[in-house]
Amino acid sequence: MSRKIVITGATQGLGKALATGLMQAGHTVWGCGRTSTAINSLAKQHAAPHDFAVVDIAQAQQVQIWADQLMETWAAPDIIINNAGLINKVAPLWEVPDQEISDVFDVNIKGTINVIRSFLPSMKAKGQGIIVNFSSGWGRSTSPGVAPYCASKWAIEGLNQALSQEVPSGLATIALNPGIIHTAMLETCFGQQAHSYLSPTEWAHKAVPFILRLSENDNGQSLTVH
Ligand SMILES: NC(=O)c1ccc[n+]([C@@H]2O[C@H](COP(=O)([O-])OP(=O)(O)OC[C@H]3O[C@@H](n4cnc5c(N)ncnc54)[C@H](OP(=O)(O)O)[C@@H]3O)[C@@H](O)[C@H]2O)c1
Repeated sequence: MSRKIVITGATQGLGKALATGLMQAGHTVWGCGRTSTAINSLAKQHAAPHDFAVVDIAQAQQVQIWADQLMETWAAPDIIINNAGLINKVAPLWEVPDQEISDVFDVNIKGTINVIRSFLPSMKAKGQGIIVNFSSGWGRSTSPGVAPYCASKWAIEGLNQALSQEVPSGLATIALNPGIIHTAMLETCFGQQAHSYLSPTEWAHKAVPFILRLSENDNGQSLTVH
């Protein structure tokens, strides 16, 4: 059965690879990102019922308008993939600029919350839906140099658990560690070493079926793509 899937951060990296893999598998993707050139190119390649919109998930109002437009035209999504994220430039906490810390929290935590708050009511009304919140190995362990990012991903784990106690039956919310994949984000923290990891397309071959298998029974789980 074809499913309707919201993916944040569809312009590059894991989000783009997931969007491509899910569309190839016959599902409908509603993606967003801030980079208009990438969004326009996706929109040109993939006509309705797919939809790609320039949305900054850190802006609650933009997210609400995006969700309202999709709901009016189509219906509630079956799956939400909260993938969009930022990492701070590797540095000890006291050297990370204040604005960079705010950006990491605004996108990774508040952005995820904005998307859930805008789309979840439609899933609740339908009595069905899966919410996937991208965590990280650094949402369950820590390393020096990425304290703001670790704080944001540990927050996602806590948010996910609390939310799982609130959602009605039929809905599930899952914290998902994607693994370690060669993306632009990984290069900022691993440098040349990033090249030794899977490409996003290779990763999507296992991530797409993994995400499609998630069910109501996974509510509240902290899982890792394998
Ligand atoms: N790569 C890994 O090994 C790894 C490991 C653990 C967890 N993760 C997590 O996996 C997710 C994807 O990471 P990635 O490696 O694919 O990173 P990436 O290549 O840097 O891509 C990040 C995506 O997020 C989008 N984004 C950032 N800020 C946004 C905003 N305010 N509004 C909308 N979209 C925004 C970007 O699009 P625009 O710039 O166009 O807005 C881009 O599409 C993140 O949550 C990351 O923390 C990745």
